[in-house]
Amino acid sequence: MPRLGVLTGGGDCPGLNAVIRAVVKTANAGGYKVIGFLDAYSGLVERRHITLDRQAISGLLHRGGTVLGTNNRDNPFRYPVGDGTCADRSDDVLRTLDDLGIECLVAIGGDGTLSITKELVDKGARAVGVPKTIDNDLAATDRTFGFDTAVATATEALDRLHTTAESHHRVMVLELMGRYAGWIALESGVAGGADVILIPEIEWTIDAVAAKILERKRAGKPFSVVVVAEGARAPGGGMVVRERVKGSADPVRLGGIGDLVGQLIAEATGIETRVTVLGHLQRGGSPSPADRVLATRFGVEAARLAMEGISGVMVCLEGSRVSHVSLADATKRLKKVPPDHQLIRAARAIGISFGDVEP
Ligand code: F6P
Repeated sequence: MPRLGVLTGGGDCPGLNAVIRAVVKTANAGGYKVIGFLDAYSGLVERRHITLDRQAISGLLHRGGTVLGTNNRDNPFRYPVGDGTCADRSDDVLRTLDDLGIECLVAIGGDGTLSITKELVDKGARAVGVPKTIDNDLAATDRTFGFDTAVATATEALDRLHTTAESHHRVMVLELMGRYAGWIALESGVAGGADVILIPEIEWTIDAVAAKILERKRAGKPFSVVVVAEGARAPGGGMVVRERVKGSADPVRLGGIGDLVGQLIAEATGIETRVTVLGHLQRGGSPSPADRVLATRFGVEAARLAMEGISGVMVCLEGSRVSHVSLADATKRLKKVPPDHQLIRAARAIGISFGDVEP
């Protein structure tokens, strides 16, 4: 029986299991067997894998996380070898694929995993990518699954913060994920009725943020809700880094901008302020119906392409159509929020401040 491989890489995200399920169902219907590699590319380097049959994918559609496991550390081209040093183990990956008779690998991941996949394809592997990130920041696809669920989780948090902000006449700051792009903050901020939204793409000042909050107070609303993306810059500075992890492929851990914003607001307005960091709650749990649908469409298309012998591409959404682009194009550019985006303009029209001087 011909074989496909599948793995999940990078940070997890709601909908990964739905992709795995769709790949297996489509492949089985086409007469293929599917091998799942455990813990991202580590499973290929170390030959840790399982057979994904009907039984293994039963009940996966609505399950969060990934049954295959994942990590955002182990790059086979710079593989950690224990003593703090790295070695190139990419030949081992090719050998595993070959020995197991895998015709094509379906690699589900973000820009890191997809870049590794491209390097392996350049070396002779056959692979199809599936984009994944709650941040929705890959330019080559209009949407990534996981984003809709993250926005829903953040919106629910904002709804809850609203009632306590109003009762106590406080400012509530919510720090959300969004490393380089503020899509989660923007969409949940609008959906959750935030008064101020701070994102990496728009420079903000504490004067403008405080002016908005004080204007609301004068108008009889002594409470405000502020959303800040983790990648938003500090006034006059850069991103706020919680820690730098030596030896990690992804050494910069963001965090702390929410506390900074909260402290500056309290000082500038004199209003009692509290800060909540939503963190990994945005990545966990069951995918929304929209994410289950998108994940399923991506999985079906990836398996179809793989079985047709197409390699070196990533499935993507173009408008409402699932299509594909080359892996080279897929990993080239991030999709940031354009400061004149229609949703930014709509948000401004209903009085939401981005902490800047309105253009
Ligand atoms: O890329 C998705 C993301 O959620 C970023 O927004 C965030 O900075 C990062 O993952 C956190 O990753 P980790 O799980 O390694 O802390």
